[in-house]
Amino acid sequence: MSKVLAIETSCDETAVAIVEDRRVLSNVVSSQIEIHRPYGGVVPEMASRQHVEMVNWAIAQALQQAGLGWAAIDGIAATCTPGLVGALLVGLTAGKTLAMLHQKPFLGVHHLEGHLYASYLSEPDLQPPFLCLLVSGGHTSLIAVRGCGEYETLGQTRDDAAGEAFDKVARLLGLGYPGGPEIDRLAKVGNGRSFPLPEGQVSLPGGGYHRYDSSFSGLKTAVLRLTQKLEQTGEPLPVPDLAASFQEAVARALTRRAIACALDYGLPAIAVGGGVAANSGLRQMLQAAAAEHQLRVMFPPLKFCTDNAAMIACAAADHLNHGHVSPLTLGAQSRMPISAVMDLYA
Ligand code: KG4
Ligand code: ZN
Repeated sequence: MSKVLAIETSCDETAVAIVEDRRVLSNVVSSQIEIHRPYGGVVPEMASRQHVEMVNWAIAQALQQAGLGWAAIDGIAATCTPGLVGALLVGLTAGKTLAMLHQKPFLGVHHLEGHLYASYLSEPDLQPPFLCLLVSGGHTSLIAVRGCGEYETLGQTRDDAAGEAFDKVARLLGLGYPGGPEIDRLAKVGNGRSFPLPEGQVSLPGGGYHRYDSSFSGLKTAVLRLTQKLEQTGEPLPVPDLAASFQEAVARALTRRAIACALDYGLPAIAVGGGVAANSGLRQMLQAAAAEHQLRVMFPPLKFCTDNAAMIACAAADHLNHGHVSPLTLGAQSRMPISAVMDLYA
């Protein structure tokens, strides 16, 4: 059993949480969405500065909410990859400094491993092996989970991530940032069969298509062409129908790949993570398809799907229980494959 305090500053949330293995003792998230909204996306330099402003407050808040002092903490963790390097450095430096000061083990955590551990927070009885479908603003990955630190990426996006596609298409339709929730809201009153849109297949060199990789840039271009054509008619854009048709295409692409992957690899459950796991179209389609194939499917509650530090603390606690500790010389890295996570530990 380990109580871990974790700091997450890889993008636009300053988050700190304390977790005891798979039980959340406190979970503080300060979102920067309002700061970045006027720019239609995350401005890296502003993100780093805002993390500096908020990180000490968030740490104090997390300890207070859990009713704990430093003496009760077994380990300190921080997200160290992937993400915006300047933003990562804020949490990482705070974490390493606190670990040194309070003489606690320090653990750097891979952000995607955190998203994957969100499923353990909501389903504490979950055991590997299972398939993780990770769909966020930066990633679209299918990962086979075989144990702590044992991951194999089976599928990924060749271009835009699923969330990025939602954000870009939302901008194209004149909707606000972040676009995913806006499209989801409008899709509920639109007809997903109004416009047939391509699913985005990835061709294989010898012919045929990749079963697990996805591509969303073609879909985005198809929406662009369609809106340009519709605009020429002079009629108002049927935004809800466009949103619903786009959402349906993304949900279909993700569902088809996740089901094929789970069945091919004999993985009995699919754990979904990342901000796009909140999407109602994806939830419905994947749940129905999984039931048809007797697969278990898990969607963590929204607060654990979007960026948070509880998922980072949960991953770190498992590593700490396995005796994994990071050196204090650990640096921030903008990219790193999840299969290399064990490189973060001595
Ligand atoms: O996991 P996350 O909070 O941050 C990253 O690590 O990227 O994911 C953010 C992404 C954004 O692109 C946002 O538009 C998308 O998740 N998102 C959604 C929904 N809620 C958030 N996409 C589709 N439907 C939603 N309901
Ligand atoms: Zn994330």
